[in-house]
Amino acid sequence: MHNNFIFERAILIFAVILLTVTSCADAKKNYIIAVSQCSEDSWRQKLKQELEMATFFNEGVELRFASANDDSHIQKRQIDSLLSSGADLLIVSPNQTDLLSDEIDKAYEAGIPVILFDRKTDSRKYTAFMGADNCQIGNMLGLFIADKLQGKGKIVEIIGLRGSSPAAERHEGFVSAISRFPGLEIVRCEYGDWTEESGETAMKQILSGYDGEVDAVFGGNDRMALGARRAMMQAGRDISNTLFVGVDALPEPDGGMGLVADSTLSASAIYPTHGDELMILALDILRGRDYPKETLLQSSIVTPENASILLLQHEEVIRQAGYLKTMNAQAGKMRDSLKLQQIILGLVLLFLAIFVFLLSFYARAYQQKKLLNAKLQYEMETVARQRDELEMERDKLIELSGDCQEESDHLSRRDSEFMQKFYSVLDKHLDNPDISVEDISAELCMSRAHLYRKVKSVTGLSPVEIIRRTRLEKADKLLSETGLNISEIAYRVGFSSASYFSKCYRDYFNRLPTDKK
Ligand code: FRU
Repeated sequence: MHNNFIFERAILIFAVILLTVTSCADAKKNYIIAVSQCSEDSWRQKLKQELEMATFFNEGVELRFASANDDSHIQKRQIDSLLSSGADLLIVSPNQTDLLSDEIDKAYEAGIPVILFDRKTDSRKYTAFMGADNCQIGNMLGLFIADKLQGKGKIVEIIGLRGSSPAAERHEGFVSAISRFPGLEIVRCEYGDWTEESGETAMKQILSGYDGEVDAVFGGNDRMALGARRAMMQAGRDISNTLFVGVDALPEPDGGMGLVADSTLSASAIYPTHGDELMILALDILRGRDYPKETLLQSSIVTPENASILLLQHEEVIRQAGYLKTMNAQAGKMRDSLKLQQIILGLVLLFLAIFVFLLSFYARAYQQKKLLNAKLQYEMETVARQRDELEMERDKLIELSGDCQEESDHLSRRDSEFMQKFYSVLDKHLDNPDISVEDISAELCMSRAHLYRKVKSVTGLSPVEIIRRTRLEKADKLLSETGLNISEIAYRVGFSSASYFSKCYRDYFNRLPTDKK
């Protein structure tokens, strides 16, 4: 009963250990999320930081980044190596639509969830898309310019990288807005590659063949608008009344928002990064939850009127993010110490379980030993009892054998006395050839039969035989001691015939009385 209780406890402890170990193993379940960026710039950095920050709330997520520096071929190779390193999900901003479609399709077909972020491919083979509505952004900025120019003016457009989806969509949205105003004209249009330098080069190119008015410049992003502005200044153009509009509005002093705040740019559109939402989407996919196939992120226009306040708000966000980082670092330390405590607890439980098991085995062994001892004790007592009984038996036997000895001594004494009497009677009548057994028995005061039984039992011979043997023994003695002849000797020992004596003598001694001894 007691042992069972201990066993139950031990099993319970093992179950707890098992649970602890399993829960630890579960907590260790990692997701590797690969992020393939087409470029390396402030906007991409912001996205990266937001994604990293999102891992603070999602333990067990590992991010692996690669940036292709605006080169589609490099990006292809990077996607390959990210996937072969064991990524569970791919987030990708494809540098150019057509050049990267095949690579991304391959990943998707291999069963790896693919999230297209910000830029698209020309294929439907992706798990989800998240990004702003670039067409709407282009349209919104077109309307802003139309409004500022009151529907009349000359516009230059610097489009983003040829073949990249935001470039095409922003252009499309912008053209569609401008086309609604007959007084507005896009006088020149040139491609850049999203960099400031490319904006400058494109504008230089335009100005080399165009010397007319430029009332507004629409850059596919802020950096290209800034480059175009510098090119105009370098060309000696009066830009005091020219609108410079771009996209991104990064909330930094030298980002789009800062440039609008200090009136370098006339407006920008927030091109949201929202790394936190991107992480939620990725984890929903990985954890098999419901998720939207297309997520359009909201954009809004930044003008000199709201730029400063937006910057201030962003500073506040940065400050909060700082706290968050500190808190995460502390939480990290606490997680580490918790892990250590879990390990220690696991070990303690393990030792405890081993101890309880050993204790239960010891208790069982002790119980069995006690049982065996009791059994042994009982058997020893039985053996001792049997030994005492045997000793008693032995003593009785010894006593009995003493009695028997005494009895036999007594008997043999009586026998020899009887035989002496028998021989003395015989001796007396030895020379009488007619002496009979009856005569002797009468002399010994016993019946003939009694005498016969007695003599036979003591000597093994009948009285007749004894009488004859005694006569012959005496005769032999006389033969050797006297000079008497055979007839005389035969007569002396009770034989009436010498020849009969000789026959008996020879039968008994195996020789004749005449033979020398
Ligand atoms: C950043 C960037 C942004 C632009 C976006 C388009 O790499 O060039 O400036 O808005 O990509 O995908």
